[in-house]
Amino acid sequence: MESALLLVGSAVILGLVWKGAIASRDTLHLIGIAGTIAMIVGQGYSARKRTGLFRSWRIKEVLEHHTTLGVAGPLLVLAHTGLEFDGVAGLSALLMTVVVASGFVGRYIYRRVPAREKEEELESLKKRLEEGGENVEKDVEGLQRRIRDVERRLAYYRRMKRLLSNWRTLHIPLTALFFITVAIHIITIYYY
Ligand code: HEM
Ligand code: HEM
Repeated sequence: MESALLLVGSAVILGLVWKGAIASRDTLHLIGIAGTIAMIVGQGYSARKRTGLFRSWRIKEVLEHHTTLGVAGPLLVLAHTGLEFDGVAGLSALLMTVVVASGFVGRYIYRRVPAREKEEELESLKKRLEEGGENVEKDVEGLQRRIRDVERRLAYYRRMKRLLSNWRTLHIPLTALFFITVAIHIITIYYY
């Protein structure tokens, strides 16, 4: 519910900027700060995943917040740009868009990777089927078909896992590069 509100609110703000109803520099500036903070808070997912922080939060929920903030934040930042994209700030906005698009690709893959229990369950099923093979004499073909089916599912899961890992190898450096350009943009604004 809060997520939907945040997304709709951000989209409305972007719409208002687009229509010229919000044009004050100070307001656009504040919107940029809000959007940047939203994206930084969204990185709490990495903290939850890789450190001992936020243990009381379920990882699934944190990933949902990551997604919401990873869309709402960029919408606000897009509003902040006043839809002008010059220099480092423009590059930053471009990288941001790429990272968000990549996030959707990542989500597509992530949803196809099973929980570890599921994979273990399939592995033990496969073992049981293979061991049972000698005892079940009549439906050998049926048994072999079931084993092949389980093997296919396991192979699919492993492929998705590898794909997710490769995706992360691209996505994390992109994110780092993005935040570096944001830092340059902010430093440039305050020092010049
Ligand atoms: C992801 C974060 C951000 C992105 C991608 C971004 C991008 C941009 C872009 C594309 C512009 C328009 C540049 C132009 O006029 O050609 C802009 C303007 C501006 N940004 Fe950001 N921005 C971000 C965050 C911030 C933050 C956090 C601040 C302040 C702390 C900030 C301060 C400003 C200011 C003051 C301007 C107006 C400059 C002017 O009107 O001359 N931005 N930003
Ligand atoms: C500004 C926007 C975003 C940034 C900076 C960002 C950044 C990141 C980073 C750095 C990771 C790696 C986390 C880790 O392994 O420690 C990640 C993972 C992920 N992000 Fe995003 N992301 C953004 C938006 C999105 C969006 C919009 C979605 C979904 C539509 C999304 C979905 C995911 C998924 C599914 C993962 C993989 C989770 C995992 O394998 O543990 N992200 N993101």
